[in-house]
Amino acid sequence: MPDPRLSEKISRLRAAIARASRLCVLTGAGASAESGVPVYRGNEGLYAAWSAADMATPEGFARDPEKVWAWYHDRRRQLAALKPNAGHLALAALQKDRLARLGPDSFRLVTQNVDGLHQAAGSTGVIEVHGSLWQIRCTGCAAVTDAPGPLDAVPHCPGCGAVCRPHIVWFGEMLPPEVWSAAVEAASACDVFISVGTSAVVQPVASLVHLAADAGALVAEINLEETPNSRWLDLSLLGKSGDILPALVDS
Ligand code: APR
Repeated sequence: MPDPRLSEKISRLRAAIARASRLCVLTGAGASAESGVPVYRGNEGLYAAWSAADMATPEGFARDPEKVWAWYHDRRRQLAALKPNAGHLALAALQKDRLARLGPDSFRLVTQNVDGLHQAAGSTGVIEVHGSLWQIRCTGCAAVTDAPGPLDAVPHCPGCGAVCRPHIVWFGEMLPPEVWSAAVEAASACDVFISVGTSAVVQPVASLVHLAADAGALVAEINLEETPNSRWLDLSLLGKSGDILPALVDS
């Protein structure tokens, strides 16, 4: 359902961004959808075809590491060929402009996505709260290794030889403390918070918008469909992030 007041909301959000000394953007899978990355939920989502309990929990990995790695190898193969979309590029341009004009604290990007497309678009200092498809972590010594290229069926730690797992936060696991505190600081200290392409249902990340609102920030959402937050936010823009984000940052 197109948003009848979209252009007015874009103008209001542009003005808020222009006034903001600190802007925090949170992205979810919807921000990568136009690059061809599948979202998680909904009829076309990853979880419609695969069980999250089998593929995205430590118990599932312990039960069958080969099966979980086969799923991640497939996702890595698929995503390695994908490119950032106009929304990723708009956020990278916005960060570059704001850091040059307003200084290092003026823009923070927090992402739930593990695809690395923000970095591929030129974003820096990305807070990857759920880890990265392009890193692996040793189940023995916890060493984290960059792994952009092909991997063995079940990779082993170059250091201690133990089995490695994807360096991804699975259901039931804590987010790395230093990453989570960076995300909390970014959301609590901003004066404009924009969530982009997330169903806003997975904790603790779904709490960030509330931290921002409680700290007095203007809170906005860009999403293809309504979320549990749409009715209370200052601005809820319904549409594709690849359309709306460039409209927000076009000079
Ligand atoms: N533009 C904007 N929003 C979009 C687009 C688009 N082009 N395409 C889809 N969306 C929206 C969908 O309407 C949906 O609300 O993006 C949202 C994606 O929601 P999810 O699939 O739940 O993904 P996400 O919110 O990122 O999931 C959060 O859950 O499974 C875990 O760790 C995983 O990081 C993930 C977390």
